[in-house]
Amino acid sequence: MLYSDKVMEHFGNPRNVGVIEDADGIGEVGNPICGDVMKITISVADDRIDDIKFQTLGCGAAIATSSIVTEMAKGMTLDEAVAITKNQVAEELGGLPPAKMHCSVLATDGLKVAVDDYLVKHGREPIAGPVKSADPNFDPHEDEDDHAH
Ligand code: FES
Repeated sequence: MLYSDKVMEHFGNPRNVGVIEDADGIGEVGNPICGDVMKITISVADDRIDDIKFQTLGCGAAIATSSIVTEMAKGMTLDEAVAITKNQVAEELGGLPPAKMHCSVLATDGLKVAVDDYLVKHGREPIAGPVKSADPNFDPHEDEDDHAH
């Protein structure tokens, strides 16, 4: 499957690249499948995503999916932002090759970690909960062992 025009457009002209200085929340995650990393920074106003930027050492699909996630998330409530799924991201981009679906998780996971970082810093309960790709000890083969017997 080839990439959609929209993927290519966001890859060639990614939105919201960079890091917000004095961000309210920071989310750093790593993709256990390919080793690529992502940093999402957010500013929050009235429990909505006021601004969001991403920085990634990821593939073209990671860049395109992050770009669209920042566009989707801007203006959303924190609850809405953490609920964005990789399937919604793929749909918004007009589809992604199956082998690239894991790339879209980097941005959605980074956003979850950034929102929880903001909440915890303000003495509030996290709403996204533990994110596997934010855990440096996460072993992607763990599940395989579980099913090995
Ligand atoms: Fe690593 Fe796409 S191959 S994020």
